[in-house]
Parts: sequence; C-alpha cells; structure tokens
Amino acid sequence: MRKPQDELQELEQVSLMRSLRVLNTPQGASITEDGSSLLNFASNDYLGLTTHPEIIDAACQGTKKWGTGAGSSRLISGTMHPHDELECTIASLKNKPAARVFANGYCSSLGLLSGIMRKGDVILLDKLAHASLIDGAKLSAATLRVFPHNDLNKLEKLLKSNRDSLTADQRIIIVIESVYSMDGDLAPLLEITKLKEKYGALLLVDEAHALGVYGDTGMGIAHELGCTDQIDFHMGTLGKSAGTAGGYIACSQAWADLMTNKSRSFIYSTAPPPAQLCAASKALEIITSEEGSLLRAALWRNIKMLHTLLNGATTTTSAIIPLIIGDSQATLDTSHLLESKHAIRVPAVRYPTVPKNTARLRISLSAAHTTDHIQHLANSLSQALCYNV
Ligand SMILES: Cc1ncc(COP(=O)(O)O)c(C=O)c1O
Repeated sequence: MRKPQDELQELEQVSLMRSLRVLNTPQGASITEDGSSLLNFASNDYLGLTTHPEIIDAACQGTKKWGTGAGSSRLISGTMHPHDELECTIASLKNKPAARVFANGYCSSLGLLSGIMRKGDVILLDKLAHASLIDGAKLSAATLRVFPHNDLNKLEKLLKSNRDSLTADQRIIIVIESVYSMDGDLAPLLEITKLKEKYGALLLVDEAHALGVYGDTGMGIAHELGCTDQIDFHMGTLGKSAGTAGGYIACSQAWADLMTNKSRSFIYSTAPPPAQLCAASKALEIITSEEGSLLRAALWRNIKMLHTLLNGATTTTSAIIPLIIGDSQATLDTSHLLESKHAIRVPAVRYPTVPKNTARLRISLSAAHTTDHIQHLANSLSQALCYNV
C-alpha cells in the first residue's frame, strides 16, 4: 500500500509540501507567528474586523444568550433566531427574497452546485474559479465545461452549443467569481450577465473577495455595477472582510427552499454556532455603516499606495495583489526571505492552488495597515525580488 511518507517526500521534492503555521496573536496588521513578530500581508481580513470590539461583544453576548452550539442540523432543531435573522439580513442586503447560511463559504458553493445541478445539466466554469466551485461542480455529476479565464467569446460559444441540446427539464449555469482569489482581477460581470440573459442560463457569482470592499455599502461588485437582479445566486463568505465565519447564498425563495431540501452540506451538518452568526450580523451592520465606508476608504488608500510604489508591477484593482514568480521553490525562498530579513509575512501560493509554473507571492491588503506598513512592504519587496533575480 502507498505510504503517506512517500507522498510527502514527493511533494517535498517538487517544492509543493505544505505545513501549518501557528499564530500566537489574533489576526491583524501585526502578528506573532511561530514566535516571530511579523507584519501580516497574508490575511483576508480586509477591513480589520476580526478584532472589532463590537463584533467581539456580539459574539460574547450571543454565546451568553444562545449557548455555544446549535445542537443539531438546520432541519432538525438547529435553526435558531440568529440563523433566521442573519439570513433575512443577507437577503435584504443582497436585494434577493431569501438566503441560506452555511458553516462556511466552501460548504455554500459545494451545497448549492451539488444540490441543484444533476446529471444532464451543464456547468460552465471559469478556469480560475475557486476550489469550492470546482468541487461543487464535480460532486453534482452535471457535465462540466471549463472556459478560459474571463474569455467571453469562448463562454458564448459554450452557451450556444450546450444550450441547444438541453431539454426543458435541464439546467445550465455559469459559475464565476467577481474578484478572483489568487489573481485579484475582476470578472467582466456586466458582459457575463448579458450573455446569461441572452442564452437563458443561470448565473452564480462568488463575491468572497468583494464583500466589504466594493460598492457604497460594501455589498460587492454586483451592487457597484447595479446588476444584482441578473444574478441568480450571490455567494459569499463571512470569513474574510466580515472577520467572522460562515458562508451564504442569496437567491429567490424557491432556490432557497430547494437548497433546504437538496444541499447536503446544509442538511447533514450541525448548524453553525448561533454566536458566530450574531457576530456576523454585527459585522454586516458595520460594513454597511459610515464606519464601514471609512474602513473601505482606508483599504483603497492602501491599495492605491502600493500600486504606485510597485510602479506598474501589478495591475489588479482589488485588495489582492499577486506577484508571479513562476517557480515554486523560488517563490518559497522569496517568501522566507521577506520573513527572515524584513519581518513581513507574504504567503507563497503554489500549485494546485494556482496553475503549474505560476507560483506567486499573494499580498492581501487591509484597512488595518498603516501607510508606514505599505511603505515597508514596497521597500522590502523591491529588495527581496532583486535578491532573487
Ligand atoms: C473565492 C472563494 N470562494 C470561496 C471561499 C471559501 O470560503 P470559506 O473560507 O468561508 O470557506 C474562498 C476562501 O478561501 C474563496 O477565496
């Protein structure tokens, strides 16, 4: 039988071995990880909300009022007032009649796609879509067609060729992210909504990295562009800019009811702890408030500043800034160098998280970073990348 040690050795040999790092502090601009004090550019806590006193208080009060666990799955007796309240809030913020909250974003996409798509249906997936979308699509047994990243022509061709062969009973869905998690670039969302309408397809948009960051109220790119109505499924996570945990799908009442009946990650799992949802509700209140706008302004100040300092090395318009190095070992070496010499934590992202030979440093910016932090990052990057040339 294949020994785990052999597999681990194979991973080590091609610089694809992963291991866990332990934080000794909460998330934040500065952290202590494995005993070293570091500036943190590795977290998706885009607004710095993981340590917000009001959200911590909501979690504490929620625990006192509702206990530490939901006790059972949602359909048995695990649907408590905080679950219902958060689903109503998300539905209303996302301009949809209903929403379903899952334990996390991964389970949301998995549950939706595997629950509503079946053999004979067609899923059109962007090539750079997140693992949760790929896994949900695979689990569904629907036909999976992958189109090149953001390639509208290819998407239209696939829509045309697959739409015609579908029976009235079958479904076709386009699955994209609004901000791509490892590249930080945006989908051509308006154009995709037009194609979806033209060919009568469904559309799922994963806004995991857009919530809190885009739109007047931080509700994401669909809101910013005014195309929420054209999207059937608004997917997101509360684990990034909302600083808590949980995932959601906002949609029509009928789709939500179908998920309640068919989404196995929703049905066969203990409901998320009520206090987690109390914290998430408070986080959404902050994201949509004046305070949220100020945090977004601070985040965008940091994004623009780093762009200017990197002098054209990156073109993304999001809080995710990838610097592609290519080789896995060289990327790991650069990440280690940033840590040992400059006390900066920027993760090396490698295959299979990104395609082969596109290993990269993935910088995540936050409203919690100061301009001094950004300046130090830019100086360190220019030195570290030179060391490696
Ligand atoms: C684009 C995207 N979708 C979904 C997820 C999953 O969300 P969660 O971390 O809440 O499971 C992530 C997080 O890694 C992500 O980057």
